Amino acid sequence: MKASVDALTERLKGRMPKTALVLGSGLGDLVDEIGNAIRIPYGELPGFPKSGVTGHAGQIVAGDLAGVPVLMLAGRAHYYEHGDAAAMRPALEALAGIGIEKLILTNAAGSLEPDMLPGSVMLITDHINFSGTNPLFGEPSDRRFVGLTEAYDAGMRAAFERAAEATATVLHKGVYMWFSGPSFETPAEIRMARLMGAHAVGMSTVPEVILARFLGLRVAACSVITNLAAGMTGAELSHDETKEMAPLGGKRLATILKRMLADGLDG
Ligand code: HPA
Repeated sequence: MKASVDALTERLKGRMPKTALVLGSGLGDLVDEIGNAIRIPYGELPGFPKSGVTGHAGQIVAGDLAGVPVLMLAGRAHYYEHGDAAAMRPALEALAGIGIEKLILTNAAGSLEPDMLPGSVMLITDHINFSGTNPLFGEPSDRRFVGLTEAYDAGMRAAFERAAEATATVLHKGVYMWFSGPSFETPAEIRMARLMGAHAVGMSTVPEVILARFLGLRVAACSVITNLAAGMTGAELSHDETKEMAPLGGKRLATILKRMLADGLDG
């Protein structure tokens, strides 16, 4: 971890952002809006993932957004790539190591709500880990027993809601259920997810939330809805659809994020 903290510190040349964002599908364009940008390919940072998913670039972009110093992770490692739920641990440890205090995670997700259509944005209020795995498997210290009663920071959630209201952007709220992927869910699994209290389903974010709470970071997370979930329309799902539809909600989420940064992240 020290190697990645040192490498990152050196490359940031004295910048000390307190907020980091993980950009999921559809939000990649946000890196182009960063002022005074420093770009660091993951390949130059020890332990950072070599993400192979199309639509994910794999670089850190640090600079100013809405006048606030931020660090963006464009590209993430998913559990389904190598079966390693802790693939993002070195990267998140490096962020904590350079003094990041708040983490905003974004993703693409399928909606379980007929009126939460593709292009919608959903603030994650809680999650269901349906993967059967955990990024803290093997962690030897008692710190592994991380409390997740308030995994999604109340102050940051309030800031999200205020920014949505101030920009007249519709912001849904709901529970995100983590499926391992990479295959999409079946219609039966989606009916089960609904019965269990989920509002959206996806293949990322939850392991990062668990790791970030383990590392003491404050966390908020938001989904961009790219499709109605399996069985809701009769159409087959595809990654092409995810990539095609993500920018729609991505623009809305970018509007909220910029306002939120400008106004402050505390509720
Ligand atoms: N299921 C799981 N992950 C997803 C979906 C979905 O329907 N859409 C985008 N990511």
